[in-house]
Amino acid sequence: MKILVIGSGGREHAIIYSILRSRKNVDLYCAPGNGGISDNAKIVNIKYDDIDGLLNFALSEKIDLTVVGPEVPLSLGIADKFLHNGLKVFGPGQKAALLESSKQFTKEFLKRNNIKTADYQSFTDFKTAYAYIQNRSHPVVIKASGLAAGKGVFIPQSIIESENYLDLIFNKKIFGKSGETVVIEDYLEGFELSYMIAADGKTYKPLATSMDYKKAYDGDKGENTGGMGSISPHPYLSAALEEKIKKNIIEPVLLSLKNEGIIYKGILYAGLMIKDDDIYVLEFNVRFGDPETQSILIRLKSDIVGLFESCIDGTLNDYNLEFDNNQAVCLVLSSAGYPGKYETGFEISFGEYEKYFNYSGNNDIYIFHAGTKKIGNKYFTNGGRVLNICSKNKDLKTALSDIYNAADAIQFKNKYYRRDIGNLGISAIKV
Ligand code: AMP
Ligand code: GLY
Repeated sequence: MKILVIGSGGREHAIIYSILRSRKNVDLYCAPGNGGISDNAKIVNIKYDDIDGLLNFALSEKIDLTVVGPEVPLSLGIADKFLHNGLKVFGPGQKAALLESSKQFTKEFLKRNNIKTADYQSFTDFKTAYAYIQNRSHPVVIKASGLAAGKGVFIPQSIIESENYLDLIFNKKIFGKSGETVVIEDYLEGFELSYMIAADGKTYKPLATSMDYKKAYDGDKGENTGGMGSISPHPYLSAALEEKIKKNIIEPVLLSLKNEGIIYKGILYAGLMIKDDDIYVLEFNVRFGDPETQSILIRLKSDIVGLFESCIDGTLNDYNLEFDNNQAVCLVLSSAGYPGKYETGFEISFGEYEKYFNYSGNNDIYIFHAGTKKIGNKYFTNGGRVLNICSKNKDLKTALSDIYNAADAIQFKNKYYRRDIGNLGISAIKV
């Protein structure tokens, strides 16, 4: 069986690891991949936004299954194009991907279907937006409507901060086209939770739960990042709350999409705010979260290829999705400066940890590559988030000491990581 994975991050490396664990006889390709992935799959040098290039490759290589990691190709309609050409592809179509690629679309969709979300207004010019924020009590939440790699949301504490940010988006165009429409919404206080499900157009199954550490620095300080670490299961998600999330959010969303002619197949990630007794939608992603997926997939007991196929074929009901009972953690090693400016090109020394590049068995430590490249037999930093160190254990403390020992031992210039991943008292303090 020939499988093509699209993407180049730790999430894609974890997906590749899960495929290798599930199936012995696969011919794996990854476009464009990274240094670590090049050890496990054939690298295809096509960028993930080159949809025609990827289509031509999949057709000429007779790829049996394509798994799309990031949101950009989904928002460009890769799933529709592949399906139209008779190719099996895991990931929702372009219309469904609007749930991530247009915050304005999502807000309108939620409002017209009576699904709870913060009140908002959208704007397409500086002057009107500026006039609007004059009369708002702060903080407010300002969001670029389009894709911004997780960096398009800012929470100004004052009118001056709002003005500066609106100036950056509308006048300095820091997000380009993605900032042409801006959503300004009410600030909600509560505790945050993300919830992922797999859907096949008829039914859905929840993935294991997880908690993401979004901020750059310890104690949830600093800027929002793509994610600096994760743990699974989520330590505070009760069965009762999970039931409520399904009934109040997941099921109405899937049904409302269907009523509007959108059959959702793939992973749906709901970013939620729990405030008193209410659950509000902050955002959707139309794909696996990164780095939540890394913690979740090392606990997966079922065959991931079967999961992808059953979502595509509409047979998810018959598929048994199981996770083990371990506590899993994932720590992101990044280049200092991320999510702002950072330098790359530094050699990575793994020492004894290179042995964890063997993904065929049940490891106690897993090293997934994100922003790395391989030259000869050496690995170099090549991005903001460089490596993901993951571990699982019945005891969270043991898993944490495993990853932090590895994080200290693995060396590269400008290495930075949060010291408090797994600290339940901090990210969950608002519970
Ligand atoms: P989003 O990409 O929309 O999930 O926003 C990124 C982050 O901004 C979220 O994870 C929250 O921490 C924060 N955020 C977004 N919307 C709101 C809101 N309405 N109230 C408070 N915080 C928010
Ligand atoms: N970790 C959040 C995301 O994948 O967008």
